[in-house]
Amino acid sequence: MQLHDLTWPAVEAYLQRSGGVIIPIGSTEQHGPSGVIGTDAMVADAIARETGRRADLLVAPLFSIGVAEHHMAFPGTLSLRPSTLIALLLDTLHSLAHHGFRRFFFINGHGGNIATLKAAFSEIHAGQRGQGGDRALGCALVNWYEVADVVRLRKQYYADREGRHATPSEIAVIQYLRPDLIHDQPLPPPGPLRSEVQGADDFRAKYPDGRMGGWSDLANPQQGQALFEAAVRGLVRQVPAFFSS
Ligand code: NI
Repeated sequence: MQLHDLTWPAVEAYLQRSGGVIIPIGSTEQHGPSGVIGTDAMVADAIARETGRRADLLVAPLFSIGVAEHHMAFPGTLSLRPSTLIALLLDTLHSLAHHGFRRFFFINGHGGNIATLKAAFSEIHAGQRGQGGDRALGCALVNWYEVADVVRLRKQYYADREGRHATPSEIAVIQYLRPDLIHDQPLPPPGPLRSEVQGADDFRAKYPDGRMGGWSDLANPQQGQALFEAAVRGLVRQVPAFFSS
């Protein structure tokens, strides 16, 4: 069930039975020569929506732009500074808390958001110091690609060809969700993984086509469906337990 689809009386009724909300967050950034710019956002949003549907829990609107500074040398990438994203997250969580929500479960599609999400959680907890009991707020973060059964499948399908960015696993999920976006021309092997990247220009110098070791063209929609199902199954087990904690 999605917040955008409800009326205010329906939200009020939901709050009678749950104080928990699922929040998808992704990124708008290059994903190599065959992956679409919206990959991280679209995958996180679809997994969150399906988790909410199966568990009968509320899903907030997607945070579609994240912290993607390293990808800014590629056209189409949009990036928020960490301080901007923290401000957006805090205003959103404070709005939800104002109405009575107490548990916020983020489903994330982009590694570059993790440090900023954790910083926002620390800000929330600092602002709450001394407020225990049923007013205490709780935040959780799961990266869909780190759900246990997803990790197992990523290893089984792609082993060390998974890489770190424009990975075949995320491209496969997009191929399952959006067959109209499949790019089926073969790509040359990606270059090797390099030492730590220092900013956008250095990223493009080290990874000229945008892939970080990911053999994107190993992806297929059947694997994408299995990865998607594994993520949703794992989350349908985890989220209700967190909401009732
Ligand atoms: Ni990605």
